[in-house]
Amino acid sequence: MEIYGANQFLLQQFFSEKVNHRKDKWGGSLENRLRFPLSVVDAVCAVREKLKRRDFIIGYRFSPEEPGEKGITMTDTVALLKALVEKPLQYLHVSQKDFNNKVRRGLGEGQSRLKIIHETVQGRLPVIGLGSLFTLDDYVKALQSGFIEFVGSGKSVMMNPHFGNRIFAGKADEIVTAIDLGKADHYDIPKPLWEMCKKGEDWLPPVKMTEISERN
Ligand SMILES: Cc1cc2nc3c(=O)[nH]c(=O)nc-3n(C[C@H](O)[C@H](O)[C@H](O)COP(=O)(O)O)c2cc1C
Repeated sequence: MEIYGANQFLLQQFFSEKVNHRKDKWGGSLENRLRFPLSVVDAVCAVREKLKRRDFIIGYRFSPEEPGEKGITMTDTVALLKALVEKPLQYLHVSQKDFNNKVRRGLGEGQSRLKIIHETVQGRLPVIGLGSLFTLDDYVKALQSGFIEFVGSGKSVMMNPHFGNRIFAGKADEIVTAIDLGKADHYDIPKPLWEMCKKGEDWLPPVKMTEISERN
């Protein structure tokens, strides 16, 4: 199971100075803001212990930075990671729009976020990275960066329902990197999501340019 510490959901809200304005032991200092996410990790791991399920893997997903003056910085994230690697977790999962995203400000500014994460974790837990990787070459390069142990995929799998099988079958050239709006049935994408794809929202798979020009 994956503990969801990413994308502005509850655990991240406690961790973020921008959102967490509490004056008690759950807010304020970095140590206090870490308390809730780490308590959740402890509680989840304790259940596994209680159930004697050591084979049950538990990971933690996080967003490394937030925009805004008080948003999460890499300094915060490095502290989170140093605490997480001490926990009996099995993996870390970095949520990013783009694998190659650079640090916005402060510690490590301008460097690859995943590089800083890798240097902090030092191989103590496997790290999953992802974000706007589309071709087989993109995935290979991501793994070859040495910053991650596993690579994840969202949009590629939406566009290529048999993504893994294509690669294993040596058919990487058949992988599509943009949605063809004329092939609604091909992708198995639920209708409400398909409607969003049609609008070309930037967190969703790219849409074939010809289709965009036909709609305009
Ligand atoms: C349709 C869709 C739904 C998503 N839902 C979630 C979600 O519920 N929680 C989450 O943390 N990330 C979610 N994401 C973000 C992805 O997990 C991933 O971080 C992001 O899309 C970048 O990877 P990709 O370029 O390989 O898709 C979603 C992405 C897409 C495209």
